[in-house]
Amino acid sequence: MQGDSAPNLVPLLSAEEISAAVARLAGELDYDYAGRSPVVVGILRGCFIFLADLVRQMQTPLQSIEFVRLSSYGGGTVSSGRAKVLMGLPRPAVQGRDIILVEDIVDTGITTAAAFKYLKRSGAGSIKLCSLLDKPSRRVMPVNIDYLGFTVPDKFLVGYGTDLDQRYRQLPAIYTLESP
Ligand code: IMP
Ligand code: MG
Repeated sequence: MQGDSAPNLVPLLSAEEISAAVARLAGELDYDYAGRSPVVVGILRGCFIFLADLVRQMQTPLQSIEFVRLSSYGGGTVSSGRAKVLMGLPRPAVQGRDIILVEDIVDTGITTAAAFKYLKRSGAGSIKLCSLLDKPSRRVMPVNIDYLGFTVPDKFLVGYGTDLDQRYRQLPAIYTLESP
């Protein structure tokens, strides 16, 4: 699967640790959203595995599950500094709704802040952020993570949906990339 110059993958979070965090987050969401039917909005593509596991642990009946896509890293590991909405949502899916925004990792905060702004502009009734990972060391935009799995060190991570140039998303655990 890896070429000659493939970096080393060093385990950071096991599938079991992730699964326990997902169950905890689902419990927190169920508690807070009791009696409501929120809309889960995932930020593509990194969220897809986390979101799929999260919603299957939740008991709360969801109004719908939606996805947005924002421009992100052009490739490699350096953020481009801005994010724009590449794929949005029909207004009725957002207007007046309680939104749970689901992200894999908040790094500079640029992507999440842009998604927040977009959902607000689209008339969301409320917006809370649920992110599996938080890498606070590189934050540029202030972002409040309402539901958080893990705080992680300032290293590039892959697996469980997160990628390096689209690779490694399928790994069931999370790894840091170290130079070979
Ligand atoms: P931000 O806009 O800098 O907060 O970056 C958010 C997006 O960049 C996330 O949705 C991730 O998909 C991606 N990202 C940030 N850090 C990492 C990482 O360590 N590994 C893989 N993707 C990352
Ligand atoms: Mg992402």
